[in-house]
Amino acid sequence: MKRYLRSVYRLLKAMVNDPRGFAHVVNTVPSVCSAYSFSHAYPYTIQEAEGLVSLPINPLREYFQNHKVGRGIWKWEHYFDIYHRHFAQFVGHKVNILEIGVYSGGSLEMWRSYFGEKSHIYGVDIDEACKAYENDFTSIFIGDQADRTFWSNFRKSVEGIDILIDDGGHTPEQQQITLEEMLPYLRPGGVYLCEDVHGCFNRFSAFATGLVHELNNTHGMPDQSNVSRFQSSIHSIHLYPYLIIIEKHRVPPRKLSAARFL
Ligand SMILES: C[S@@+](CC[C@H](N)C(=O)[O-])C[C@H]1O[C@@H](n2cnc3c(N)ncnc32)[C@H](O)[C@@H]1O
Repeated sequence: MKRYLRSVYRLLKAMVNDPRGFAHVVNTVPSVCSAYSFSHAYPYTIQEAEGLVSLPINPLREYFQNHKVGRGIWKWEHYFDIYHRHFAQFVGHKVNILEIGVYSGGSLEMWRSYFGEKSHIYGVDIDEACKAYENDFTSIFIGDQADRTFWSNFRKSVEGIDILIDDGGHTPEQQQITLEEMLPYLRPGGVYLCEDVHGCFNRFSAFATGLVHELNNTHGMPDQSNVSRFQSSIHSIHLYPYLIIIEKHRVPPRKLSAARFL
């Protein structure tokens, strides 16, 4: 009952805060329902692409598979190919990596080994004990990722972040606050990755897919449109099982235009 009342409260709050946005979203609800029905009853036949049987070498996957002693790493296995797909461009460069959720420190070591000696790794965790993993190339901040003041202080202490991996508490509220506080702060060309977005109709998933509406905004001019602040900053949004990735533009586009050859 409490949960139901909370949902009704959130719904009413959204309607009062932004009635126009709310009406637009309500208009998309039938399409969301159709998409769910279609994907849930998807006609599936097992097929493999011919000639693509062996997987390309992925240093992260190899590191994880060979990691039998030392500090623990806790990742879903299918994440490794996705990481490599989005992160390979940063390997060997001077990059700042932030992982929220340090746990036993093994993933911080993995990132440093993958990105190389020029990288600096930042870890955030609510557990004070994680401070033990600090060293010359790893800085640890203790705090709650759902606390906006924590992020405000973090931003003042760190020069810039190129890659953010959210593997912390995994509640939709924590994930949304972290994104709102940190996505604008990521450097141009940066990659924002949120892990463990679990379950059908996950509220963080709804938040992240809601971002696509502004990405698709044509501002009433379908052939030639100026870009909004969001469109000039955000390059793309990628959805994978349990993972959401947002990439930022390296060079902001000034406009979006459709070339026509007649
Ligand atoms: C899944 S573990 C992280 C695993 C680690 N990244 C790895 O790959 O091995 C989640 C971590 O998030 C931390 N955590 C939980 N709630 C948090 C919060 N609100 N803010 C920051 N960290 C949190 C926990 O203390 C725990 O260490």
